[in-house]
Amino acid sequence: MASKSLFIVAIDFGTSYSGYCFSLAKHTDQIRQVFWGHEHGLNTVKTPTCILFNEKREFMKFGYDAVMKYHTLPSREAHKWYYFHHFKMKLYNKKITSNMELETDNGEKFPALKVFSESLRYMKDHALNTIREASYQTVYVTEDVTWVITVPAIWDASARQFMRLAAKEAGLISDMFSEQLIIALEPEAASVWCKQLPQEGFVAEGGNRQKFEESPGTQYVVVDCGGGTIDITVHEIQENQSLKELHKASGGGWGGDTVDENFKEFLKEIFQDGVWEEYTQNHPAECHKMMYDFGLQKCSSSREEVYMRCYHNLTKVAEHKKKDISLFFDECKQKDISLFFEGVEGALWCNGTIIITYEKMKSFFAYSVRQTIGALQEILNKPEMAKVQYILVVGGFASSITLREEIYQTFREQYRILCPQESQAAIIKGAILFGHNPQIVASRISALTHGVMICEAFDIAVHDIQKKRVSKADKYVYCTDLFKKLVGIGDLVEVDGVANYIFTLTEPDKTSVT
Ligand SMILES: Nc1ncnc2c1ncn2[C@@H]1O[C@H](COP(=O)(O)OP(=O)(O)OP(=O)(O)O)[C@@H](O)[C@H]1O
Ligand SMILES: *[C@@H]1O[C@H](CO)[C@@H](O)[C@H](O)[C@H]1NC(C)=O
Ligand SMILES: *[C@@H]1O[C@H](CO)[C@@H](O)[C@H](O)[C@H]1NC(C)=O
Ligand SMILES: *[C@@H]1O[C@H](CO)[C@@H](O)[C@H](O)[C@H]1NC(C)=O
Ligand SMILES: [Mg+2]
Repeated sequence: MASKSLFIVAIDFGTSYSGYCFSLAKHTDQIRQVFWGHEHGLNTVKTPTCILFNEKREFMKFGYDAVMKYHTLPSREAHKWYYFHHFKMKLYNKKITSNMELETDNGEKFPALKVFSESLRYMKDHALNTIREASYQTVYVTEDVTWVITVPAIWDASARQFMRLAAKEAGLISDMFSEQLIIALEPEAASVWCKQLPQEGFVAEGGNRQKFEESPGTQYVVVDCGGGTIDITVHEIQENQSLKELHKASGGGWGGDTVDENFKEFLKEIFQDGVWEEYTQNHPAECHKMMYDFGLQKCSSSREEVYMRCYHNLTKVAEHKKKDISLFFDECKQKDISLFFEGVEGALWCNGTIIITYEKMKSFFAYSVRQTIGALQEILNKPEMAKVQYILVVGGFASSITLREEIYQTFREQYRILCPQESQAAIIKGAILFGHNPQIVASRISALTHGVMICEAFDIAVHDIQKKRVSKADKYVYCTDLFKKLVGIGDLVEVDGVANYIFTLTEPDKTSVT
């Protein structure tokens, strides 16, 4: 694992935001965090997962730089460039192939692998530069660094494989099977981070002074609330401070970005008669800017109405439409656009600003909150989860007071609910610790049934006569095409655990099996 490397770099490649941390491979007690957005007056642990390619399909910018550049592009230019965000969700719940394509807002196709690998390449170069500056050392990718990339636990194997391929394309590793790349699961990484936290590391509610990992037998649920996915896992602390998974990875694609999606749907409802469609088609960059503003507004912790500036071109498109309709009315422009808000509940038009009531804002969170609480209840209501005492809420979306409040109200009587101070960074920092010692998660619960195809002595009572075969060599009568289960759904599987099965060939002269 990290033994040969000098450094460990952990990349949290998120749906909404990405970031990385690094440490010396031998001393993971000192984890260096990298902050983003200084050029834009910001200072955040992650940067937006947004990437911009020019019209020649060459990589231009990533993160805040991509966002800001795209926002300043005039509509005419914006159409020619390739801008991607939220593309990580394209790998969730789908069959993934290496030649998969992504579509831009205006319907152009672009290879997904390039989008992912260029993003990773940017993170890699950024990380290597930072390490060089910090250590006065020349670091070479292949020998000196062990990379950890986090992915949702609920992703399937083909998506994980795709990330590995993208990492190879980006030059993080030289071959697909390299041990210099560790794919870590987001909620596991968060769990590894949280378990070594003392009480001071947690806000929301206190605890005793001990570290979590000093109480073997403690069982807890970790909820990684991201922008794309909500990832849930249940762990028990073992005597040797390693972790045992108690429930298969669960969750779904109802992260914080569904709040923005719901807001967009609401705008579509307001700006009817094709106004919204025309706007998003003709002014994609400005529309994105408006959504970006909303992304900041929704993080407000005050329970008040929200003021959204309505940009020039949306006003223009809207006025234009209403003019067509109210051609014979001598109404002023302001009046025109306010017509869109008649009969709309939860929003008002006021001097170029859209005012959204607090109730309406809260309603945008409802879907995500409901799904998250439902999934937690489903897990916690199982009899085998009776000993769980804690719910640890991590991830960027864990900062949402709406989500936190609902979780708290629902579960506070039975569970202690804890949220680490830097809930968004818990995943990256935990990934460093995981990279240092992947054995820290000692066993897992299989989310799928795994098995192989075999033949068995033919039994007329159970086997299909169509599948009956006779071997050439010794006239052995067998049934072909049978499934032999090796691991079942919900089975406990130890890391590096070994199970032995003995199979023989149906024909002795066979030289290979698939
Ligand atoms: N205070 C807040 N209130 C509401 N939402 C918030 C708040 N802070 C962050 N978010 C939301 O949390 C999400 C980002 O969290 P995070 O960085 O953990 O996601 P990610 O890692 O990019 O996504 P994923 O893990 O699903 O790939 C975004 O949807 C963001 O808008
Ligand atoms: C808004 O419209 C104006 C005029 O049509 C155009 O010049 C400008 O680029 C547009 N802005 C954006 C961000 O789309
Ligand atoms: C810790 O204990 C678990 C279960 O008792 C075991 O499976 C695992 O191998 C141990 N890990 C280490 C590093 O000793
Ligand atoms: C709208 O703007 C006008 C002039 O700019 C101002 O007089 C008026 O008070 C504003 N209305 C509201 C509700 O803010
Ligand atoms: Mg995440």
